[in-house]
Amino acid sequence: VSHPKIMVRVRDGAQTAISECQFQFKNDRWNCSTADKLFQKSVTEQIRLVRSSSREAAFAHAITSAAVTYEVTRACSRGHLIECSCDGRKRGSSKDNTGKFEWGGCSDDVQFGMSVAEEFIDANEIAQHDGRAIMNLHNNRAGRKTVKAFKKRKCKCHGATDTCPLRTCWEELDEFRLTGNYLKRKYDGAVRVTVRQGSREMTLHTTVSSHKPPTKRDLVYLEDSPNYCIRSEATGSLGTSGRECNLTSKGIDGCALLCCGRGHDTSRVTRTRKCNCRFHFCCEIRCKLCTETLDVYTCKPELGQEEPTRQTVSSS
Ligand SMILES: *[C@@H]1O[C@H](CO)[C@@H](O)[C@H](O)[C@H]1NC(C)=O
Ligand SMILES: *[C@@H]1O[C@H](CO)[C@@H](O)[C@H](O)[C@H]1NC(C)=O
Repeated sequence: VSHPKIMVRVRDGAQTAISECQFQFKNDRWNCSTADKLFQKSVTEQIRLVRSSSREAAFAHAITSAAVTYEVTRACSRGHLIECSCDGRKRGSSKDNTGKFEWGGCSDDVQFGMSVAEEFIDANEIAQHDGRAIMNLHNNRAGRKTVKAFKKRKCKCHGATDTCPLRTCWEELDEFRLTGNYLKRKYDGAVRVTVRQGSREMTLHTTVSSHKPPTKRDLVYLEDSPNYCIRSEATGSLGTSGRECNLTSKGIDGCALLCCGRGHDTSRVTRTRKCNCRFHFCCEIRCKLCTETLDVYTCKPELGQEEPTRQTVSSS
């Protein structure tokens, strides 16, 4: 598939992937910013550049592959692409637990979206034949499968509304946020694996032999994450210096954990935002501007990052 219009949707997918990644990780030490920089290059370049095999790379691959599947599929249903349209298999009558219905309207052809994502994104790995390629292919597929799992059936009644004598239904992909939430949970529970050369192909195995092998929708990774507390060009970590943190939270977004024990600075800022928005008939939304003064907490810089502080090396 090299049709220019499809390439536009693939790029849309990369954009969707960045926004979702940044949303899911806004409170974490790794906030998807390295991916952000990479995503501004073409998707192919990005995938080649995220060549590390940490669980963050696993998430980046899965969400990109998922978002491309999603955007291509939705573009098909909207009639934006000549290569595809609605799912032609959803025709005739069928049954669900409410009873009989007719397929009608436009069902999303997720199979087409998956094949484009597979052809386009997996292509970067096929030629590699190394452990990382096997890891990436697994995570790409997990992303595509997740999108497919979040389909919802919508139905319409025709005729007398209370009896619903004729029901037509179609299936569409649910909002992408659900895929993002699911993949974030899979990231939290990602499975560490090793790759072994079998007689015919390389296969994934858990590093702890008592653990269950990864399922097709698990995210897998090969090596530990770099230390995201510290800025390092080598690992692509931006560190957490200057990140806004939550003073009261005990979670990773709290100042204690997000700032990695370096402490935080407090500043009083005045922010203006839209508030008391009202809908006026028809069709306008009018808001007031509210000004609020609040304390903002940001992580202190790393030692030696801003003002050179004398560092004492403990020799105990
Ligand atoms: C992520 O964190 C870095 C610094 O730690 C910051 O420069 C960047 O703006 C953050 N990105 C987002 C999307 O919040
Ligand atoms: C900070 O964390 C607390 C506790 O988790 C939460 O209730 C509060 O809404 C958070 N504040 C902000 C500004 O996110």
